[in-house]
Parts: sequence; structure tokens; C-alpha cells
Amino acid sequence: MKPERVVAVAFAVSIMASMGLVGVYVSGGQAQAEGALLGTALGGLGVGLAVWSVGLLPSRTRSEEREPLSSDDALVDRAEDDLHPSDITRRKALVRLMAGAGGTLAGALAIPALSLGPRPGQDLFTTPWTAGARLVDPEGAPLRPGDLVLDSVTTVYPEGHVGSPDAQTLLIKVDVQDLEMPEDRIAWAPDGCIGYSKICTHAGCPVGLYRAKAHELLCPCHQSTFDVLRGCSVTFGPADRPLPQLPISVDEEGFLIALGDFTEPVGPGFWNMTGGGG
Ligand code: FES
Repeated sequence: MKPERVVAVAFAVSIMASMGLVGVYVSGGQAQAEGALLGTALGGLGVGLAVWSVGLLPSRTRSEEREPLSSDDALVDRAEDDLHPSDITRRKALVRLMAGAGGTLAGALAIPALSLGPRPGQDLFTTPWTAGARLVDPEGAPLRPGDLVLDSVTTVYPEGHVGSPDAQTLLIKVDVQDLEMPEDRIAWAPDGCIGYSKICTHAGCPVGLYRAKAHELLCPCHQSTFDVLRGCSVTFGPADRPLPQLPISVDEEGFLIALGDFTEPVGPGFWNMTGGGG
């Protein structure tokens, strides 16, 4: 088969595969078929370009002595004879096919951007905790400071949001005399009940272990350790910021309530990253 024909067929196959890829995606998607079509589209484009460069472009390097710049009539006539209009037409067609193959492939590759879903908006910055929300245990029962035993830890949620992943909070009862934090933060720990986000600031694992003797919270994923008495500052491991504290108070009925949302967004830092990662 002539190289021109091979190039044309390869580009045409690439175009059809790209269109097929769009069709499969729009009709619900099928990972294996999409992969095969993407491979065919890229392969067709690659084969077309390779055959074009090897079979259609002149490969020999020629040089000649510089001659007088103006051509005589005989030379002009010979050049005109050498120009075959069919060559130009074929090249135009191939260029158009190549542009078509590249364009449809680019279009097909842009389609997956539709799968990115809705923008998260403020969802990553806020949790269901609001001022006045009662702290409830996993069964939904509101808690009073007296319900907690010294050195115990309980997972709590805002009333009406039991199970909320963002809002899960570790409520720990410590001796308020032991707290070494700014006064305003100590005021958020009525009767020594202090709350911190349960989501590790390293990679988002639940911080599940409490070493009461050392007053340390430990993340089992990569052993980040947080000092409960000092605002959950990091004392060991890859986490690079404290667990956000939940401001807590007591309502007129004696139940523990939140004074608002956490002091910072929960989970791994993302809003203040300048590059790299932890
Ligand atoms: S997720 Fe907690 S230390 Fe890595």
C-alpha cells in the first residue's frame, strides 16, 4: 500500500476511535472500551505521523554550489513541469486528516473533565458544628460534663448530625489545672471537657488512640502524636499542624454545646499549601 494511503487510513482510524470514545463516554462509559479506543486513537495518530515522516518526507540531504539567484526561462519551465498538482492536493488532504485526528482526539480527552463533579465550594472549610449545637454521643444522647470520667475519651457529634465524617470530635476529660494553653482556649474546656477534631491533619485518618497517662492522642496510620494539654500540638510524626479545637461551653440546662465551628478547617491542610506535601 502506498504511504499516502497508509497515512490517510491511520488518521481516519484515529478519528473514528476518538469519536467512538466520546460515544461510549456519553452513553454511560465502559472503562475497558474507553481504554481500547483511546489506545487506538493515539496509535492511529502515531502511525500516521511515523509513516508520513518516513515515507513521504524527503530523507536525503542534498547540497549544491550557490548559483546565480535569478532563474532563466528554461529553469522556470522545468520547475513548473516538476510541480504535480495531484501531489499538492494529496498533501492538503493528509494535512486536513491529521488536523481532524488531532482535533477529535483532543475533544475526546477533554470529555472526562465533565466527570470531575460539582465544585466543593465552602464544604471543605466548614462542618455541621454551629453555635448552640449540643454535643451528643454516637447514640445521639446529649452529654453533660458530669457524664464523662476523668481521662476518658468519647467521640461526639453535633445534635442531628450523628455520623457526620467532618464533625466527628474527640471529647476528652482532663484536669483543667493541667491545661497549658491560652486563657481563651482554656475557657473552651468547661470542667476540663476539651474537644478536638478526630480527623488527622496528616492524611485524614481517624485519630483513634488516647494515651491517658501522657495525655496524648495517637493516629494509628503514621503515628502522628498530639499533645492534648497543649492545644493538640504535634509532638511526633508527619502531621504538620495541631488538631483543630472545638470551642465548647455549657447551656442553661447543663448540657455541653459548641460555641461555633472548629478553629480551623479539619483534616489535611490544603488551603494554605504553597507546594510539596507532607
Ligand atoms: S494520617 Fe495520621 S499520621 Fe498519617
